[in-house]
Amino acid sequence: MTPNAIPCTRRSLLLTGTALGAVVLAACTSAPPQNASTPAPTGTQPDRPPTSGGDVGAQGGLYGVGVYNTRQVADELAWIHENIHPLAGDTKRILITGSAAGAGQLCAAYLLKRGHTVVAHARNVQRAADVRRDLPGLEHVVTGDLLDLDETRALAGQINALGDFDVIIHNAGEYGLPDGDLLNSNSLSPYLLTALVTPPQQLSYLTSDLHLGGSVRLDEVRSGGGISYGDSKLHVAMIATAAARLWPSRQVNAVAPGWIPTLMGFHNGNTSTPDSLRDGYMTQVWLAEGVEPGSDVTGEFLFHQQVETRVNELVHDPQAQDRLLAAYAEQTGVAFPSES
Ligand SMILES: NC(=O)c1ccc[n+]([C@@H]2O[C@H](COP(=O)([O-])OP(=O)(O)OC[C@H]3O[C@@H](n4cnc5c(N)ncnc54)[C@H](OP(=O)(O)O)[C@@H]3O)[C@@H](O)[C@H]2O)c1
Repeated sequence: MTPNAIPCTRRSLLLTGTALGAVVLAACTSAPPQNASTPAPTGTQPDRPPTSGGDVGAQGGLYGVGVYNTRQVADELAWIHENIHPLAGDTKRILITGSAAGAGQLCAAYLLKRGHTVVAHARNVQRAADVRRDLPGLEHVVTGDLLDLDETRALAGQINALGDFDVIIHNAGEYGLPDGDLLNSNSLSPYLLTALVTPPQQLSYLTSDLHLGGSVRLDEVRSGGGISYGDSKLHVAMIATAAARLWPSRQVNAVAPGWIPTLMGFHNGNTSTPDSLRDGYMTQVWLAEGVEPGSDVTGEFLFHQQVETRVNELVHDPQAQDRLLAAYAEQTGVAFPSES
């Protein structure tokens, strides 16, 4: 898809509307988007026994329709389970933040079925139980609520204790919360995890076309006062491009999934979303596997396996990146590490 294919009304639509609720649950029953090149999800869920979630029982039915996932995500998870098979060749060890629902869970499910070793991340033990039940075969589930920077620091310790990863996908993100919360979950936490976790060979950061309306807001970052969703998605894209520049031996990109039918996509009571759910997670899979032509790209803002040209100019501005990293270092007390 080209950048111009993003409807110019998307931003205003995503930012208006009514609360999540019955409308969302009604929308969850509609058909999932399709790719022409791939078979349709069956709509049935695989007949698999629930697995133990540890001390906490998993909530909802398999894949948590109406609890933490839409019907579209659940159908896509079922399709992955039935249709994706192991990759012939090298496999990777991959960590995905926010992988108990939505695009992160789809990415985790796909990579697991391809034979990779996957560590999931959930916000708490309840959600960890959910993802253990939904995705049998995970190597491990790390926990931590990214709204709380102390939990994020502890999460970095959990990840480092597991040893080295080939790929980390910074996927977790919140929408519709107060600006101070969005600063913590969407920007300061991925920054802290980037700075505190032993860097893998490849990093991807989930951003959004709403970054186009974002600003750097250095004073708000320094004061912890908060930033909007669009600001947070600009910042995380700039963290990605800065990391690519400062860590030239590593592959680092920002990835926009499109407006897709996860719970976040339906957040404002929207009953339809314009973009393909499958395309919304396949760029992350394509990068992680790194076997297809062009998948060795670095330092870019990607949309559906293409370099996006409709990007805020700050994303590729090294001086702006350095000013942003300095403000993040000041706010967190953690400097962005140089490449060792
Ligand atoms: N959906 C879209 O149209 C869209 C468009 C542009 C960009 N994005 C971006 O794509 C990424 C994936 O979003 P999605 O659509 O898959 O949303 P989603 O279905 O809401 O899933 C988000 C995942 O992140 C986790 N998460 C959120 N805040 C967290 C926190 N404070 N601590 C720990 N985990 C947290 C969620 O955990 P719980 O399940 O426990 O809440 C969930 O597993 C996000 O970064 C989002 O900003 C999405």
